[in-house]
Amino acid sequence: MRTIHLIFFSPTRTTRTTLEAIAAGTGCTPGSVLDLTRAVPPGRPEFGTGDLVLIGMPVYAGRLPALAVERFQKIKGGGAVAAPIVVYGNRHYDDALIELYDLCREQHFRPIAAGAFLGEHSFSTTTLPLSAGRPDAADLEQAAQFGRRLRHAEQRLEKVPGNRPYKDLMQPSGSATSVNPAACSRCGICIAICPTGGMHLTETAAEADPNHCIWCMACERYCPENARSLTHEKVMASAQKLDQLFSERREPELFFST
Ligand SMILES: Cc1cc2nc3c(=O)[nH]c(=O)nc-3n(C[C@H](O)[C@H](O)[C@H](O)COP(=O)(O)O)c2cc1C
Repeated sequence: MRTIHLIFFSPTRTTRTTLEAIAAGTGCTPGSVLDLTRAVPPGRPEFGTGDLVLIGMPVYAGRLPALAVERFQKIKGGGAVAAPIVVYGNRHYDDALIELYDLCREQHFRPIAAGAFLGEHSFSTTTLPLSAGRPDAADLEQAAQFGRRLRHAEQRLEKVPGNRPYKDLMQPSGSATSVNPAACSRCGICIAICPTGGMHLTETAAEADPNHCIWCMACERYCPENARSLTHEKVMASAQKLDQLFSERREPELFFST
């Protein structure tokens, strides 16, 4: 029986949750978990032909987050079979899945299946919920089913949707989440979970560095005081547009070789 390993970048944890449900569905022996969200952990596992590796990343503006790509490029596949998985917030995954598929092959993984799953959009708020609550029970059941099929898959997957060259990367905006200093307790949770390491404590509050922020929203989502928000006009406009144009429920797409 194969050993199953997880590699992911997942600031708001929908990608991680999806991968865990797929892994449980495979029934394979659990192996390593490599969380690239904060950094590339030391003591990286070596993979080989008896391994099945689930590789998951969220979709950012139709591509993979550049930081996730940079960290994943430090991992070697050693010929292990793999399933690239992207998780997106109900708009579309555009070129992110093909980008992850290509990246897997470059790092010497052998893709045998791929999936595009749904997660709550990072820009979702209580006042403007976007793809809220996903992955939900139906998504997780589909993830488990994908895992069950994956267990028996052997053939290399030759094709996934998307275009080469990929669409342009989203440009950094030079803006970050802001904080309400009256609400911030300076607990440091946001500093510990920020994927870029771009937050620091001041005398009054935890501040995010506009030159580092990737808008992943982890600091806002996990702030115990609800002290953080992102009110950049581009984000506000994007959230409104997503609500108006992309609220019809999309379903997971699973790809196996035929
Ligand atoms: C900067 C940014 C850009 C995003 N772009 C897209 C997109 O192009 N299409 C989409 O459907 N969702 C998009 N999303 C939503 C995320 O893909 C989605 O929320 C995902 O579930 C986040 O994964 P995580 O919970 O593992 O961090 C974007 C999110 C962020 C932060």
